[in-house]
Amino acid sequence: MKKILFLASGTGSNFSASIEYIQKIKLDVEILGLICNKKEAKVLEKAKNFGIKIFLIESKENPNYDLELKNLVMKLNPDLIVLAGYMKILSGEFIFGIKNKIINIHPSLLPSFQGIKSIEKAFDYGVKFTGCTVHFVEEEIDSGAIILQSVVEILPKMNITELTEIIHQEEHKILPLAIEYFCKDRLLIEGRKVSIIHD
Ligand code: GRF
Repeated sequence: MKKILFLASGTGSNFSASIEYIQKIKLDVEILGLICNKKEAKVLEKAKNFGIKIFLIESKENPNYDLELKNLVMKLNPDLIVLAGYMKILSGEFIFGIKNKIINIHPSLLPSFQGIKSIEKAFDYGVKFTGCTVHFVEEEIDSGAIILQSVVEILPKMNITELTEIIHQEEHKILPLAIEYFCKDRLLIEGRKVSIIHD
């Protein structure tokens, strides 16, 4: 049975979608808890409602943040770390030790529009298609091997609010799916190429 640890600091919609999916398909996993770096994050309330253990390690004005995070993760010893809107860059040293165990959801079709405000950047650029990506986390931001992507067409009259909403809906599908594939050992990783092993 795989042990999953979530890291999130936002509203927690991806976190909730993942937990709901895990429960719905009765995925045989242990959820170790949620690590959050912001005490005001909405995701905390969601974790509480699901009865999931919360670990708050504040990053603001905390010089020990990196060390505390590393120690906690080492103690919990997860098989999979899911970054579900974790608004803090993980240190290279942290990532290096647990390569191919950390996945992230990003709101663009990587490698386009890396970093923050990706939905706005894609919208302003005028691309016709954007979407979202689940990928493994590497030292370099938004650069790891791609697990799943979902394409969203930007229709002529669409506004940024509508686009954001559709991208989030797609995120809520592909992140839980990637978790399922990882936990069922259905990801075949060959360098940058990740393929899904079908039953
Ligand atoms: C998502 O758009 C995700 O792609 C990005 O952060 C956002 C988190 O949203 N990494 P939520 O907290 O899951 O609603």
